[in-house]
Amino acid sequence: MIKNICCIGAGYVGGPTMAIIAQKCPNIKVTVVDLNEERIAAWNDADVSNIPIYEPGLSEIVAESRGRNLFFSTEVDKAIDEAEMIFISVNTPTKTYGVGKGMAADLKYIELCARQIARVAKTNKIVVEKSTLPVRTASAIKDILDHTGNGVKFQILSNPEFLAEGTAVEDLLAPDRVLIGGDSSNEGQQAVQLLVDVYSNWVPKDKILTTNVWSSELSKLTANAFLAQRVSSINAMSELCEKTGADVNEVAKAIGMDSRIGSKFLKSSVGFGGSCFQKDILNLVYIAQSYGLNEVADYWEQVIIMNDHQKRRFAKNIIKTLYNTVSGKKIAFLGWAFKKDTNDTRESAAIYVADYLLSEQAKISVYDPKVNEKQILFDLDYLESRNESDNKSGVSVLENPYKVCENAHAIAVLTEWDEFKTYDWQKIYDSMLKPAFIFDGRNLLNKEKLEKIGFVYQSIGS
Ligand code: UDX
Ligand code: UDX
Repeated sequence: MIKNICCIGAGYVGGPTMAIIAQKCPNIKVTVVDLNEERIAAWNDADVSNIPIYEPGLSEIVAESRGRNLFFSTEVDKAIDEAEMIFISVNTPTKTYGVGKGMAADLKYIELCARQIARVAKTNKIVVEKSTLPVRTASAIKDILDHTGNGVKFQILSNPEFLAEGTAVEDLLAPDRVLIGGDSSNEGQQAVQLLVDVYSNWVPKDKILTTNVWSSELSKLTANAFLAQRVSSINAMSELCEKTGADVNEVAKAIGMDSRIGSKFLKSSVGFGGSCFQKDILNLVYIAQSYGLNEVADYWEQVIIMNDHQKRRFAKNIIKTLYNTVSGKKIAFLGWAFKKDTNDTRESAAIYVADYLLSEQAKISVYDPKVNEKQILFDLDYLESRNESDNKSGVSVLENPYKVCENAHAIAVLTEWDEFKTYDWQKIYDSMLKPAFIFDGRNLLNKEKLEKIGFVYQSIGS
């Protein structure tokens, strides 16, 4: 039985996953380590509402286990040394240089972790890939460990995480399935069993699926590709709906009732974001290309092309509707996170819509209940197309949504936060320039109610 777990990477995946393991396995000591001192300090903040990741229900769970069997630390070597099982949960961004630039996953952090484990380990270890990785990464990790370790034996498992942000706690507590890939050798199967035993503390046995390592790695990329494909498919239909007079919400409902299709992931939007979909599909495309499978690569790449088109189309429509110019006009952004109930903004559609409007000299004013000014400016500064001083002068971020909308020419809804539905829309209307436009990138608000107040309301796909 495993008694001591270490997780390298205290991010959106590592943090919540380890918090649940610690909660459900009080006999296992769980230490989450990260190079980022600020992040670890935030996880250890005496006021648990200050933990660095916002997820409904997470701070309560951290409060319960922290200091008991859940620890956050920057002492990576010590945690590796003590653990029998090490989860790698560091980020694997898209490469920004060299071969595979813009497509392949950058595995430098994974390799650094492997080398660090090899250097430090004095006893046998089970290394678990939690990060989403290209197929056959496990064999590269094994190679490094076997050739640089101190005669210590390593087993590599693939255990991809399927939690979605905003619902991480629910997803971890009651997963559709847990996937564990391992080597077919006896030692490999023993390692698989030890991880199965950890999850069995709260996940029913029939939901724990074991496969070979490569099936597990590829399943994760495939799951994200299929989910993203559904969003791009319905978004493709949204444009056709706008031209034909059909309503994409009605179409989604009608097709979703077919049990073969299912009702989830059919919500048309300004485009998907998040740290995973684009990165993983690009990765899949790159892998297919590297095997010479050009049709396979093109097929999946189209999911990204459609998504980029949807974001641009949303921004262009704002400009066209505002009499073909937004120069000097105030556009209020409600929402910046890539979806509701998270403070994560990675690849959020809002960033790209803002970029487009700012390059047309719009003035943007942003309110998001969980994202602050520093993060929003960071996201824009990060884009190659933008420079810091233009961002500072073109963007304002306020903590009051009513102030954000005051004297605006238009409102753009970028995230589907529930609180937006509860606002006093009459008050907002009264404070705006007329005609007062709303571009609802999430089909969130009530069209009839808003039109009755006097808004010109446009949603996606109708
Ligand atoms: C990441 C990957 O993006 C995703 O593909 C994978 O499935 C899980 O890991 P996430 O947890 O959302 O997802 O990333 P992030 O919030 O960036 O957390 C990664 C953490 O690893 C960061 O806090 C970073 O400081 C840390 N890290 C990175 C290390 O501790 N050591 C390193 O060498 C590199
Ligand atoms: C996704 C996968 O769901 C999860 O299993 C995997 O582990 C990581 O990637 P996440 O990125 O956290 O999770 O969020 P998800 O709920 O999948 O949403 C991704 C994006 O798609 C968001 O921008 C969301 O707003 C958008 N989306 C989702 C739609 O536009 N329409 C939908 O119907 C569903």
